[in-house]
Amino acid sequence: MIPDRSNVIADRNAVITGSGAGVGRALAIQMARAGAHVWVNDLNRDRAESVCAEIEAEGLLASPVIADVCDGDAVGAMVRETGPVDILVNNAGIPESGVRLQHFAESEPEDWEPLIRLNLFAVLGVTRAYLPGMIENGWGRILTIVSDSGRKGERHQAVYGAAKAAAMGFSRGLAHDVGRQGITVNCIALGAMNHGVLADAIEADPGLERKLSRPYPAGRLGRPEDVAPLAVLLCSDGGAFITGQVYPVDGGYFPAL
Ligand SMILES: NC(=O)c1ccc[n+]([C@@H]2O[C@H](COP(=O)([O-])OP(=O)(O)OC[C@H]3O[C@@H](n4cnc5c(N)ncnc54)[C@H](O)[C@@H]3O)[C@@H](O)[C@H]2O)c1
Repeated sequence: MIPDRSNVIADRNAVITGSGAGVGRALAIQMARAGAHVWVNDLNRDRAESVCAEIEAEGLLASPVIADVCDGDAVGAMVRETGPVDILVNNAGIPESGVRLQHFAESEPEDWEPLIRLNLFAVLGVTRAYLPGMIENGWGRILTIVSDSGRKGERHQAVYGAAKAAAMGFSRGLAHDVGRQGITVNCIALGAMNHGVLADAIEADPGLERKLSRPYPAGRLGRPEDVAPLAVLLCSDGGAFITGQVYPVDGGYFPAL
């Protein structure tokens, strides 16, 4: 008999960091549609509450949980508020100060710190905080959103790419630590997204997306909604035998080898 490993996350609790906007918002909406109760984490209360309202308007379950994931005390309070969760998506990765495009030779340690704090230390901190509950339940899914900047490397993004590459290395190692306890650990790597500041620039210059998407076999840049189908699979029962991997969702820009 084939066990039921369907691609659903019904009745699972999921926390998605930085899900008040962008990719995280799309993940929160799609995970709620797949049946999860979603905790929408953000440091911005208005954004988190507005995403929860969108989800609740569809008759689905979501609650805001406000915390700066770089702040250990705030993460502790977040875990006390949500209780143990089945699914953790480490999505927050663009600091409030943005990802400044600059030559490394012109950068200073104060430029590096927010990128490394959010994309590495916060991933470690939030994962460490939720892991004991997953171990106790014997089931867990940890997914971290990374970037092709950390796989291929991109001009003017060396430090951001380094922090993302570190998060991938962490995920691969952690998969070995917790695989026998029913917990999978994976990453999804994104290319450039038609979203946020880039979407504003594209709106102002309609030729820009065509130019930027030349190296993309899919012929366009990513959109937040492109990420959720694979994320839901990786976080479902159906993802039980998929761990320690980094999957690109990047329109074919930089293939996984
Ligand atoms: N946008 C892109 O082109 C792109 C490309 C590759 C990878 N990514 C990755 O995708 C993920 C999502 O990016 P996005 O573009 O959707 O981001 P975004 O900037 O649109 O939204 C991120 C949300 O995270 C919140 N946030 C920021 N710092 C936080 C913190 N310390 N604690 C809690 N919440 C915080 C913000 O308030 C915001 O609502 C990130 O990991 C990013 O590195 C994005």
